[in-house]
Amino acid sequence: MSKGKRRVLSGMRPTGNLHLGHYIGVLENWKKMQINDDCFYFVADWHALTTEYQDASNIRKYTDEMIIDWLAAGIDPEKATIFVQSDVLQHSELHLLLSMITPIPWLERVPSYKETKENLSNRDLSTYGFLGYPLLQTADILLYSADVVPVGIDQVPHIELAREIARRFNFIYGETVFIEPQPLLTSTPKLPGTDGRKMSKSFDNCIYLADSPEEIEKKIKTMVTDPQRVRRNDPGNPEVCPVYAYHKVFSKSEEVKKIEDSCKDASIGCVDCKKILFNNIEEFFVEYSEKRAKISSDREQISSIRKKGKERAYNEAEKMMEKVRNVMKLR
Ligand code: TRP
Ligand code: SF4
Repeated sequence: MSKGKRRVLSGMRPTGNLHLGHYIGVLENWKKMQINDDCFYFVADWHALTTEYQDASNIRKYTDEMIIDWLAAGIDPEKATIFVQSDVLQHSELHLLLSMITPIPWLERVPSYKETKENLSNRDLSTYGFLGYPLLQTADILLYSADVVPVGIDQVPHIELAREIARRFNFIYGETVFIEPQPLLTSTPKLPGTDGRKMSKSFDNCIYLADSPEEIEKKIKTMVTDPQRVRRNDPGNPEVCPVYAYHKVFSKSEEVKKIEDSCKDASIGCVDCKKILFNNIEEFFVEYSEKRAKISSDREQISSIRKKGKERAYNEAEKMMEKVRNVMKLR
């Protein structure tokens, strides 16, 4: 790791299996960044606990599954540091110390706080852990002096909080211990869900990386198309059709062009258009699931990757904590 490299840090909560939107939107981006940047990618299992605190067994299961998906997608443990948040206890220590200087209103005004509480009204989220979610995220980021944090647009207020806390800490203790991280926006999702809305577990419109070809075929068959195209000989508008959005990602460019033209002049029907898409997606999935199965069968390899990542992350985190304990005169 040379000095000139940017430090990149990002995390994902292990709340379920990954879907195509994660792959195309987030992991492809992570994969590009690992080439030139000093990347730290971690499974945010404690963050998942803020909403799933009653039963963590799924979090445990999905943590390993998530690492397997990352590896199958091409995240390379030789290039990036892959680790699990709860493997590095310094995250909790820094979270606690930062909580001493964090005004409660700063947390209460983070938009995701109210929104998620309303969306998940079936769960009791009037807990400290849930209010402190973005502060734990702040600790994740500041612990590694991350220059940039690739996130979706909904996470920008969390990065803003991290910047404010970094400034406040440096001011109170009179030393520049933390640097202010920049958010790096993941480009807008290229893949909508099967119903045309944002792909999301809560909308039940996802194609999962772990889906079988039969499941995928069924999902594609029932996908929403251009709503104006009611009869077979109505001309369509591919730009408003989710199926076409998938073609742009999974089909070769000549084929995409052909579909665009034949949709517009109604020389192709939606049923056939979907068949072509399925064939092209199937290829991607066969390759992916072969890779995934191979990785998944070698548990020793996975735990050694996890151990190696933990060591690297731990060393970085401990170096930072020594500084923090010193300026706070805890030593
Ligand atoms: N809150 C993020 C999300 O829901 C996950 C996350 C936790 C994270 N800690 C992080 C992302 C630190 C970036 C940096 O997607
Ligand atoms: Fe969508 Fe294809 Fe039907 Fe056109 S032909 S509306 S692109 S599914």
